[in-house]
Amino acid sequence: MDKILNKKKIILIIGGGIAAYKSLDLIRLLKKQECEIKVVLTESGKKFVTPLSVTSLSQNKVYQDIFDSENEAEMDHISLSRWCDIILFAPVTANSIAKLASGKADDLASTLILASNKQIILAPAMNVRMWLHKSTKSNINKLLDFGYLSVGPSTGEMACGEYGEGKMSSPNQIYEFIKNYFSDRNIVKNKNLKALVTAGPTKEYIDPVRFITNNSSGKQGYEIASSLAKFGVKTTLISGPSALKKPENVNIIKVESADQMYAETKKTLPVDIAVCTAAITDFKPEKYETKKIKKDNLNINFKRNIDILEFLSKNNLQRPKLVVGFAAETNDVIKLAKEKKNRKYCDWIIANDVSSPEIGFNSDYNAVSIIYGDKVEKIEKNLKSYIANKIAKKIINNFIQ
Ligand SMILES: Cc1cc2nc3c(=O)[nH]c(=O)nc-3n(C[C@H](O)[C@H](O)[C@H](O)COP(=O)(O)O)c2cc1C
Repeated sequence: MDKILNKKKIILIIGGGIAAYKSLDLIRLLKKQECEIKVVLTESGKKFVTPLSVTSLSQNKVYQDIFDSENEAEMDHISLSRWCDIILFAPVTANSIAKLASGKADDLASTLILASNKQIILAPAMNVRMWLHKSTKSNINKLLDFGYLSVGPSTGEMACGEYGEGKMSSPNQIYEFIKNYFSDRNIVKNKNLKALVTAGPTKEYIDPVRFITNNSSGKQGYEIASSLAKFGVKTTLISGPSALKKPENVNIIKVESADQMYAETKKTLPVDIAVCTAAITDFKPEKYETKKIKKDNLNINFKRNIDILEFLSKNNLQRPKLVVGFAAETNDVIKLAKEKKNRKYCDWIIANDVSSPEIGFNSDYNAVSIIYGDKVEKIEKNLKSYIANKIAKKIINNFIQ
């Protein structure tokens, strides 16, 4: 028996697709590991598997109707969400994916998911053209952006006789996915991993009213901090001026100048992981004038600011096990990023092209390449939250392998 799944509480929602019959097998696999399972059947799901088979296998009542609560003091959609460790939707149909992406809550399954703060795992299943439809693509990307996870779909011959992508993952694949999900979180929790993320621009004051800064919004760094925290990493975000909301479960320290960011970075050490996304203003005035400079005095001398990425990478006493830098470039992106990685002695560098207004600075989108050793791993244009989740997952894998 896999101890990792023992006594885990899983809500399984079965939607209206041919693959619903496979979920009966999945219940058996999970029950063998002594998981506790409560099943929600959508109206269409009932056309494919019967409540009787589901009750017999799950050894629990089947939940079908949002207005069917036996205990009126506790509505099912709330009590089920409180009860479970994860919610698995298998098979999830194109229809349900669209409903979840738009925040609809017109049946027990969608209301439960909207009301839940637990991890949602989707196992999509549908005809290849439904899966490849732009609408489904955009809906599923939105859900991944919310932090939902998806297992599959896989490619193969379908019940409708066509061949392609859209087949629900097999019960064994879904079972392994869930096992890995719990096992990754256990490892991260037991390792007590700590991370430091720097984000946003810095503001270097020239006099009490003037400063130099740059156009960084901090979005990518905030998203990375949020994703690491979701994986169970104890995360501190040191942020330059930014209007963004504090990510959940992240300890945030707000600073203005690069010197303040450097001081807070030193205080936050030791950490296992450092991700330096901050666009630290390269220069600062040689001298801060305590009184407003007169208009006719145009001579301001600048000097180089502290390099926090280099400080962390070369810190022999308290070097984080993994130091990740960012390189925002407008040309020769990969070449310049590789040079930066070698110059700064960091372990990975994440290169992004800031020449296009559609991605990078201030945009919700990014497209990056993770450079480590001789390898360059590209993550195509997507929401910054999606990219952050990919980067965080890669960081976690680095510690659990
Ligand atoms: C025989 C049959 C098979 C179906 N298989 C699927 C499927 O595999 N995937 C899917 O997205 N929809 C499938 N549908 C359509 C859904 O059942 C329909 O969109 C329904 O409204 C989904 O409801 P739900 O999302 O609440 O479960 C199928 C319909 C029929 C009649």
